[in-house]
Amino acid sequence: MIPLWTAAELRDATGGECGDAVNPTGISIDTRSIAPGDLFVALRDQRDGHDFVEGAFARGAFAMVDRDIPGPVLRVADTLAGLTALGAAGRARMGGRVIAVTGSVGKTTTKEMLKRACAALGPTHASAASHNNQWGVPLTLARMPRGTDWAAIEIGMNHRHEIAPLARLTRAHVVIVTAIGTAHIGHLGSQEAIADEKADIAAGIEPGGIAVLPQDSAFFARMAETARRHGAQVLGFGESPEASARMLAWRGSAASSEAEFELSGRHVMVRLDQPGKHMAMNALAALAAIQAAGGDTGLAAAALSGFGAGAGRGEMRRIATPDHGTALLLDESYNASDSAIRAALAVLAAQKATRRIAVLGDMRELGDFGPDLHRALAPDVARAADLVFTCGPLMAHLHEALPARRQGVHTEDAASLAPIVAAALRDGDAVLVKGSLGMRMASIIRALTGPGSMGKD
Ligand SMILES: Nc1ncnc2c1ncn2[C@@H]1O[C@H](COP(=O)(O)OP(=O)(O)OP(=O)(O)O)[C@@H](O)[C@H]1O
Ligand SMILES: [Mg+2]
Repeated sequence: MIPLWTAAELRDATGGECGDAVNPTGISIDTRSIAPGDLFVALRDQRDGHDFVEGAFARGAFAMVDRDIPGPVLRVADTLAGLTALGAAGRARMGGRVIAVTGSVGKTTTKEMLKRACAALGPTHASAASHNNQWGVPLTLARMPRGTDWAAIEIGMNHRHEIAPLARLTRAHVVIVTAIGTAHIGHLGSQEAIADEKADIAAGIEPGGIAVLPQDSAFFARMAETARRHGAQVLGFGESPEASARMLAWRGSAASSEAEFELSGRHVMVRLDQPGKHMAMNALAALAAIQAAGGDTGLAAAALSGFGAGAGRGEMRRIATPDHGTALLLDESYNASDSAIRAALAVLAAQKATRRIAVLGDMRELGDFGPDLHRALAPDVARAADLVFTCGPLMAHLHEALPARRQGVHTEDAASLAPIVAAALRDGDAVLVKGSLGMRMASIIRALTGPGSMGKD
């Protein structure tokens, strides 16, 4: 088997030193998920990865290190620079098409859609999970197998000026900005700054490259200007008649949706095992990007059909209720920002149920904007839900802003809310659970799906 990287290639790419036996078949930055033959890159975070090198050896791995450690190592000057150099080399040897995705919401979903659709066109490589930062992007590129025809790369940020260097490393042919929301506005200061940062994904775009931007966004023109400044051509997607990739029709039912798109004059239909219109928008962006990269949209759209929810991103299941009935659980526990909550509320509102219940935890990283953005959810929440349970100091602002008839219980954290929600459920309810990752809303999911759960719908 040809390794992912030969020793000679590793030396060339990183300027480091290693013996000829260092021929890794994979790359890892976490010894908990390491496989034999992987190159474990000893990065420094809260802990120093060099402390785990012995463990990596014990599992049959090689290691990239920047200290004197005996064993099957690739010795470099700095491990993060080494990983980045290997990412650049992974990208350089790839002769296919690269599509990069950013946005305030929907990055992973759109990347997963690209992965599925592109796989119908040729050998495809994509970021794992949400590996979208200064470690995740080079890791993804360094892991790209030889002979990859299509790559879907997720790029994210917490602060201004983080996306451009990752985009330059990725050198995409097509870039997507899914949507502009308020995620990380605490660090960025304004939605304009978020839009400018996201549009920087066009930095380092390949000559003749195309930026696929959300035409319906208030920041479309602003992002288009930035993308053009980076040398990209602009293609809008959305419902607006001006969009060249346009959603002509959309029908959502309780658990699925069907959309009709026009992609530069070509009509395609897509059926998703996902009810939200926002998911159809992500599909439109993915197909527009594939078309812009020269892929066959008919094949791609057919492959996309049946796309379902990712973990904690709208999964639906039936759960048992204390009165020996069943309720529908909408598991949105993975993360939350205000646009994602509004999108999930639309799905809750579309459910046939005796009562629609929203269980919401704080949206984090909003800085001084936090209290107002939580309060501002009140009208939409009150319209979509009959009863609202909240947890976290920021959600207290929403709780107070709700009409009394909608107010359920408010607690400080998810752990204390979980048993209250579990006891309150009744036969025929539909319940949405959503909050920032750090709020651990998954503990509420566990409380609701414990013994007696009836599995996936
Ligand atoms: N286009 C969209 N508009 C609004 N909400 C969306 C959209 N796409 C996905 N969401 C919702 O946003 C949440 C996060 O989705 P996803 O994981 O795809 O986003 P992400 O941008 O990768 O997030 P992260 O920043 O955590 O990596 C999910 O709850 C999902 O339902
Ligand atoms: Mg993600």
